[in-house]
Order: sequence, then C-alpha cells, then structure tokens
Amino acid sequence: MNRRFDINNKGHLMLGGMDSTELAKEYGTPLYVMEEDTILSAMREYKASVDRFYDGNGLICYASKAFSCKEIYRIAMREGLGTDVVSGGELYTALSVGFPAEKICFHGNNKSDKEIEYALESGVGRIVVDNAEELERLSAAAERLKIKAPVLFRIKPGVDAHTHSFVMTGQIDSKFGFAIETGEAEAVIAKAVKMPNIIYKGIHCHIGSQIHELLPFTETAKIMMDFMGRIKKETGADTNELNLGGGFGIIYTDEDDRIEYPSYMKAVSEIIHEKSEELGLKLPFILMEPGRSIVGEAGTTLYTVGAVKTIPNIRTYVSVDGGMFDNPRYILYGSKYDFLLANKADQPAVNRVTVAGKCCESGDLLGENVPLGNAESGDICAVFSTGAYNYSMSSNYNRNVIPPVVFVKDGKARVVVKPQTYEDLVRNDI
Ligand code: LLP
Repeated sequence: MNRRFDINNKGHLMLGGMDSTELAKEYGTPLYVMEEDTILSAMREYKASVDRFYDGNGLICYASKAFSCKEIYRIAMREGLGTDVVSGGELYTALSVGFPAEKICFHGNNKSDKEIEYALESGVGRIVVDNAEELERLSAAAERLKIKAPVLFRIKPGVDAHTHSFVMTGQIDSKFGFAIETGEAEAVIAKAVKMPNIIYKGIHCHIGSQIHELLPFTETAKIMMDFMGRIKKETGADTNELNLGGGFGIIYTDEDDRIEYPSYMKAVSEIIHEKSEELGLKLPFILMEPGRSIVGEAGTTLYTVGAVKTIPNIRTYVSVDGGMFDNPRYILYGSKYDFLLANKADQPAVNRVTVAGKCCESGDLLGENVPLGNAESGDICAVFSTGAYNYSMSSNYNRNVIPPVVFVKDGKARVVVKPQTYEDLVRNDI
C-alpha cells in the first residue's frame, strides 16, 4: 500500500493528530472518522481554482449526496461554497443550518411536486430540470406561488466516462436529462425561454463519478459550449451559466492514479475560454459539483475485529462489527479499499484475507483478497477513503444502528453525528 499515514510511537494509526485506537475506545466502533483538514484543503483548492481559472466567475457547489449532515453544510457555507442537493431531505438539512438558498442547486430526475414547491418557496438559486414533464410541473408550481423559477437544464453530452477509457456514445442510455442528438434538449430550452414563470439561466451536465482522466471532461466542455452556441443561434437565448457537474476521482487503493484537481480545472477552463471566443459567446458563469473528491479521502472507518475464521486452502474471513449497513459499496459495486490494523499499524500486511461484515448475508463483505496483518479478535481495523458515499448510503439493515461520525483536527475530536440508538430504530414504529 503506497498510501501515507501517520503512526505514533505505540505503532497505532493516527488520524487528525489523534490515536485511532483511543477514538475507537472513546466512541465505540464502527466509527466514521473524518479528518477535517482534508475536507478544508479540498474545498479551498477548488475555490482557489475558480479564482485562478475563471477570475472568480463561478461557484463550487459541494455535492452533498457524498456526505450529508448539518456540519458539512456549515463548513461548506463558511468556506464560501454552494451546495448541490438532490432531495427534500438534503435541502432541509442544508437550510436547517442557514445555508444560503441562492447558493443551492436542486437536482433529481423525478422531483415530487412537494419537493418542487419546497425548493421554490425556499428560494433555491437553481433548479436543475431533468425532463419536459418536470418543466411543466415546475412552471405550474411557480405560477401558483407567484414566483419565477430559476432553472438550468440537465443535458446528456453523450460522453460515457465509465467505459474502459471513455467513449462517445452519441445518445447515452441514461435516466438523467435531455439528449442533444435527438433535438429534445434544444426544443425544451426553446420552449422554456418563452415561459413567463421560468428564468432560463443555463445548462448542466454530469458525466459520471470516480473519473481519473482529463479527456472526458475536456470533450464534455467542448460539447456543452457548442450546444450553447447552437442555443444562441437557434433561439437567440443567452446561456449565462454552465454547470459542469462533479466526478473527479480519488485514491482508494494503489490502482487509482489521481490527477490533481487544478489540472482538470485548467484544461477545462482553456476549452471554455477558447470556445467562448470562437463562438462569440460571453464567458458563462461556471458551476462545479465535486462530492467524492471533497470528502472521500477525509474519511476512515474504524471497526473492531471479532471472529477470525480460516477455511483451510480456501480463505480467511476476518469479521468486523460493521458491514454493508455502514458501507454498501463493496456489495453494490465491488469497490476496493485499503485496510490496516490500526493497533498494529507498524506491522507488515503478511496475509490476504476477506473482510466480512456482520449482516445476515453472504455477500456482506468489505473486501476480498486484501492484504492485512495478523488479525485477532479485539484488533481495530481501519478502512481508508470512506468519507464519501458511506455514511450517506448507510442503512438500518438487520436493524443495525448507524454509527456516529466524528471529525478530527489538530489532535481534537468532536462528534458531528451522534450514534443511533435502539430507541431511534423503533421511533416511527406503531
Ligand atoms: N452532480 C451530480 C448531478 C451528480 O449526480 C453527482 C453524483 C455529483 C455531482 C457528484 O459526483 P462526485 O464528485 O461525487 O463523483 N454512490 C456512488 C456514486 C454516485 C454518484 C452519483 N452522482 C458511489 O458510491 O460510488
């Protein structure tokens, strides 16, 4: 494992200046630990890139689906970021700490009327319209509320970044957004600009997640700029904003090779500047929605090892006290992680093991064939890069309680999400 981490003189893994085994002792396991400095530096790096490459003419909207709780919205707010929400629940959480509504982008491919009204009444700055039916419902809701809805349209640029390198697939098969090729994207904008309750602000795209290449992003930027040119030509409408989505990759294991974020920003901004000039368009206000790359590497989950079961000539199962209920990414996507025995962090990873969760399901694993030291019952097992899409995708499967989240910084820890209790589990049961 090439990953760098701090170890103290007891051979224990340190997180945010704290002994991880002490954190496990104090808060129990499983425990989500987030290193706040990592979050802050990612936010600041993105924000500085907007200043550097777009003269500050843009906004980073943290994609809160990656990790949503009150404290992360407070931090994003303090750092001057906007946020992207994708449900009434995320919107509620953001607003509950006073997040400025005008800096919120509201997404979703199937927003309910209730969510649309909630977003409008709250004064959300941008509603990203996904389909023609939604535009009608949005316009009707805006009329009912006697307000004008500021909208972006979600466009399918036809770049599929999830293939081996990446391919241009024309109209991709996706439940999200409007295709350019079929003319539906242009048609809906032509219609929207004439609607009295709709303010057409611009267009949005998001080509995928955990992307480690530049080309899909630069190609997408070209396609979106060309599309803006076409809109201007065909409808006369100005597209003042371009939202480029998120998707920048992080490091989970040595297989990942991250491109530094400013490289994406620089390459994409060059395209946008060139294309603006070529097409005679005003430089659009740029929005970006990084999620994973802001919180992913900040997170480490701590578990306690329980049963260690060796099946001769087959494999060794190291069972931990969490599993798919706190991290469903292995069972869902086969996602790979780095593992470390936090109380034996200075010892070599001499074994290859399967790390199993505690749910009543054979597929409830966190990793297979992973290098690990000699695991014994009572050891603390750390899993790195779990800050994104772990807590936010956790569940109460098997009525397990969702672990607490602790932020660590400069040798101090603070709970930002309390542990669920058994009472919480039955709270809504009749
Ligand atoms: N904007 C939009 C419209 C999105 O759909 C997403 C992610 C983002 C921004 C943020 O993308 P990021 O920077 O985090 O890659 N559960 C999956 C990831 C799903 C991503 C969904 N959309 C996982 O655990 O890998």
